[in-house]
Amino acid sequence: METKIAVLASGTGSNFSALVNGDTGPGRVDILLTDNENAGALKLASELGVDSRYLYPGKYRTKFGTKEEEYWAEFLLNRGIQLVCLAGLMRIIKGPLLDAFHGRIMNIHPSLLPAFPGLDAQGQAFRYGVKIAGCTVHYVDGGTDTGPIILQESVPVLDSDQRDSLAARILLKEHEIYSKAVKAHCQGRAVYSEVVR
Ligand code: GAR
Repeated sequence: METKIAVLASGTGSNFSALVNGDTGPGRVDILLTDNENAGALKLASELGVDSRYLYPGKYRTKFGTKEEEYWAEFLLNRGIQLVCLAGLMRIIKGPLLDAFHGRIMNIHPSLLPAFPGLDAQGQAFRYGVKIAGCTVHYVDGGTDTGPIILQESVPVLDSDQRDSLAARILLKEHEIYSKAVKAHCQGRAVYSEVVR
């Protein structure tokens, strides 16, 4: 049976687009939600023929207001969404949304977690001088880029790389592994289980 997916994005939306065009079956992207009225992802959604909506996130910059997070959760539940995919959503999910979809929220992050969580992971990795960078798809557990890892892919750092060239190659890998991870979840091959620390 089909798994109805909502993608939550704040920016360009290339991962959103990769999920729409990728092989995620039996999962299917049903809607794009954004907290940013100017998100490029909104334009992509209309080009791709995917329903989309801007929802007010509240007055904070990096988290939702409690009332607003409740509203987002209700909206997704009422729509019959079964899996929530964060694709460059620049906000922490902690409260009502996490409670409503615990174990059914995924995130993509442009580093080999647990290394380099937070903002500009590609820049952090580049400046640190790692020789192998990469990306991670993981379930969301309320922390910043923490939670059980579903898939990772490595990307070698070349001598000729700058931060942006490295980020561009990581992004291509992100597009590959996000669809694979979503497919694995929708087929029951990936399941949330607490990380043992
Ligand atoms: C992607 O690189 C994604 O991994 C990153 O934001 C970018 C969104 O690009 N997410 C994070 O850093 C989350 N901590 P996109 O809008 O083109 O998909």
